[in-house]
Amino acid sequence: MARQNAVITGWGFYAPSRVMTNFDLEKIVDTSDQWITERTGIKERHIAAEGETTSTMAARAARVALERARLRPADVDLIIVGTCSPDYLFPATACLVQTAIGAERAGSFDVEAACTSFVSALAIANGMIVSGAIRNALVIGAETLSRFLDWTDRGTCVLFGDGAGAVVVEGSSASVGIESTVLHSDGSKGDLLWVQGGGVKHPASKDSLAKGLHFLKMDGSATFKLAVKSMADAAEEALAAAGLKLDDIALLIPHQANIRIIEAVGKRLRFPAEKVFVNVQRYGNTSAASIPIALCEAEAAGRLRRGDKVLLVAFGGGFTWGAAVLEWWGSHLEHGQRSILDRAARALEDVVDRVRPVG
Ligand code: COA
Repeated sequence: MARQNAVITGWGFYAPSRVMTNFDLEKIVDTSDQWITERTGIKERHIAAEGETTSTMAARAARVALERARLRPADVDLIIVGTCSPDYLFPATACLVQTAIGAERAGSFDVEAACTSFVSALAIANGMIVSGAIRNALVIGAETLSRFLDWTDRGTCVLFGDGAGAVVVEGSSASVGIESTVLHSDGSKGDLLWVQGGGVKHPASKDSLAKGLHFLKMDGSATFKLAVKSMADAAEEALAAAGLKLDDIALLIPHQANIRIIEAVGKRLRFPAEKVFVNVQRYGNTSAASIPIALCEAEAAGRLRRGDKVLLVAFGGGFTWGAAVLEWWGSHLEHGQRSILDRAARALEDVVDRVRPVG
C-alpha cells in the first residue's frame, strides 16, 4: 500500500443541555463566582443528565463527525474512545459506541490517559493509518467526571464538566494531516490526581465508600506547576518532530483545564495569546473531551482554515502529557471531488494489493 497521511476529515461534539454556573455552585459549597473565575477562568460547565453517560455522549459526537466526513458507520475501521470515566470497567465504552452508531465492521477499544487520552488516541490512530493497518478511525474523547466528583469538596467540584468530542481520521495521499505526535508519562506522581476506588486495589465496598475512595482527589497546586512545564515541553518537542517553529503555528489548542495554566503555557512558550484557543469559561475541565470540543468550536468560529498548522497539547492524571501537530484539511464537503477521488484511488490500491501475487 502506498504511503498515506492521516487527515482529520470530520469533527463533532456534544455537551449536555444542563448548564451549572458558578452561582449554582455557590449554593452547594462554600465558594464564590469571583474565586472560581479568578483562579480558573471557569464561569459554567455542562453536567450530564440522569441516563446520559460517557458512551451516549460519545455516540452523539461521533454521529456528527461521521456526517461531516461523509463516512458511513459501516465503513468505520476502528473506534477509540479516550476516557477516564467509562460507563463500565468493561466492556469498553468504545464497544458501546460501536453498537450505538452501527459501526458493524469496526474494532473498538478505550484509551485511558486521563486528560491526555484524546491526544493518545489520536497518536494510535495516526500510527495505524500511516502503517496501512487501517483506512480510518473514529477518535473520541468523552467524559462524565461529574459522577466521580465529591460535591462537598470545593477544591475539585468547581473545576470539571461533562461532554464529548469526536474526530474522523482518514488515510489520504494528500501531503497534509498529522505531522507529529509525542506522548510522555510519570507514574510516580499518580497520587496527585486520581480516583482510587473501584479498581482491583480498592474494589467497591462499604469501607471504600466510607473513605470516599470513589471520588476524584487532587493536589491542585502540584498539578498546576507540572502541567505548565510538561505542556510547554511537549509542545516544543512535537514542533521539533514536525520540523516546525512556533511561528509556523496558526492555532494552539491546549487542554482546557484552567485559564491560568493555559496563559502560563503560552507565556513559557512566548506564544501570542491571540493564537491560543480558549473555551474553558463555558465547559470547565472536560478532561479527554476538552481538546476535541475546543477543536470543533475553533472551526465553527472560523479559526481553523485549510493549510493552518495546529498544535494540540494536553496534560492529565497519571501524570500523562503529550502533543500533536497537524495541518488542517477541513471536510469533504468543502473539498468535494478531490477527497472522493482520493478514496476511490485508495480502494483501487487495496484491490491491486489483494490480487498481487505473493513472492
Ligand atoms: N472556592 C473558594 N475557596 C477555595 C476553593 C473554592 N472553590 N477551592 C479552594 N479554595 C481555598 C482553599 O481551601 C485554600 O484556602 P486556605 O488558604 O484557607 O487553605 C485557598 O482557596 C487557596 O487554595 P489553593 O489550592 O492554594 O489555590 P490555588 O490558587 O492553587 O487554586 C486550583 C486552586 C485548584 C484552582 C489550582 O491549584 C489549579 O487550578 N490546579 C490545577 C488543577 C487542574 O487543572 N487539574 C487538572 C489538570 S488536567
